[in-house]
Amino acid sequence: MNEHSFPEDFVWGVAASAYQIEGAVAEDGRGASIWDTFSHTPGAVDNGDTGDVACDHYHRWSEDLDLLVELGVASYRFSVAWPRVMPDGRTVNQQGLDFYRRLVDGLLARGIRPLMTLYHWDLPQSLDVGDAGGWLSRDVPARFADFAGVLGKELGDRVPAVTTLNEPWCSAYLGYASGEHAPGRTDNALAYRAAHHLNLAHGRAVAALRDVLPANADVSVALNLHQVEAASERPEDVAAAEHVDLIANRVFLDPMLGAGYSEALRRTTEGLTDWAFVQDGDEAEIAGALDSIGINFYNPARVRAANEGGRPFPGSDRAFFADVAGPRTVMGWPIVPAGLTDLLLRVQRDVGLPMHVTENGLGARDVVEAGAVHDPERIAYLRDHLAAVLEARRRGADVRGYYVWTLLDNFEWAWGYDKRFGLVHVDFADQRRTFKDSARWYAEVISRNAL
Ligand code: FCB
Repeated sequence: MNEHSFPEDFVWGVAASAYQIEGAVAEDGRGASIWDTFSHTPGAVDNGDTGDVACDHYHRWSEDLDLLVELGVASYRFSVAWPRVMPDGRTVNQQGLDFYRRLVDGLLARGIRPLMTLYHWDLPQSLDVGDAGGWLSRDVPARFADFAGVLGKELGDRVPAVTTLNEPWCSAYLGYASGEHAPGRTDNALAYRAAHHLNLAHGRAVAALRDVLPANADVSVALNLHQVEAASERPEDVAAAEHVDLIANRVFLDPMLGAGYSEALRRTTEGLTDWAFVQDGDEAEIAGALDSIGINFYNPARVRAANEGGRPFPGSDRAFFADVAGPRTVMGWPIVPAGLTDLLLRVQRDVGLPMHVTENGLGARDVVEAGAVHDPERIAYLRDHLAAVLEARRRGADVRGYYVWTLLDNFEWAWGYDKRFGLVHVDFADQRRTFKDSARWYAEVISRNAL
């Protein structure tokens, strides 16, 4: 052991999600999701890209799992496409379930531990009908609890860890306030209603899972908490940062940890929402006990109160993004590894549950040259963020694992296929997979268990 080593039982992983890799959108009874509809809406996604084919993982899952073996990861974080398992959001489709059973068995046969995410944004389209459908509807949390119960019952004997939602912030605020994500609504008020129904769905799913999972199962949620700083020490900027912490972080953390929605949140959202959609008993339902928490981190955020041409913070009428100094990825995302240390220490302090970094990685425009993909900037990014994890651990954060986003270049939501996050390059013309330098580097880190 030296200061660059990870503990013996540190979990090395990679993460992926269904709609971004599976393709086969009309096969074996799969129903449409809101991302099928959105990606086929002109102008919604760069280049008009869709997830229709993606990485064709639905057919190539077995060779893709072999890539995990080459990497040497202990765990694979995948998500279940709800519309594959329940095409109408309600009725079970056996063929859809069978796909995930094959996938999970394939992982176990390779000695890899599945971490199953129930919802990574692909809501069944039939649950989003009319102006008040989707996450605006109180019926969807009930449907989600049923879905969670089915997955828990069918696969709980072989999946040791289940995450309810991936990044509900994106579902609520990008889906309903900024409109960058499906279903593409653009009304700040709607985002709060959606956030509440996502919280309720999470809480009810936790309860449904507890009913059917073995007692030692690990139940979690994966949040992209914002490591938010004020752009200056001016009181109005400090207030903007506190406002963003409330609407982006505490809106999920507080009720999930059993504290309900705070007075501070209700105050800071005056004029945005009256929270009338919160019914008696909801906050108690959201508070189901968790075993661990997943943290997805890419970059910190700086905000200011004055609109100086910055993008408004989604869901807010008074906070705007400010520039973070330093290098950026091709996504335009600032590279600040210390932000991850700060965030993990904050979660340790405020949440106190065991943590996994469930996503972290870098998007670039990688190309294959003479059979190789040289991606030194991704290696540097991963190395520096892993060092940030070690630093957080040294200072007391109980971080138990790390998942690179992602295994394969894939459908990067509104950015389409241009921005590549994979350790493994995918040629979307012929589906050829090529290990990038970063994949070989990551395999070495895993085998040394040290940086
Ligand atoms: C996260 C998403 C994931 C991927 C990365 C780059 O917000 O959870 O699906 O798109 O960003």
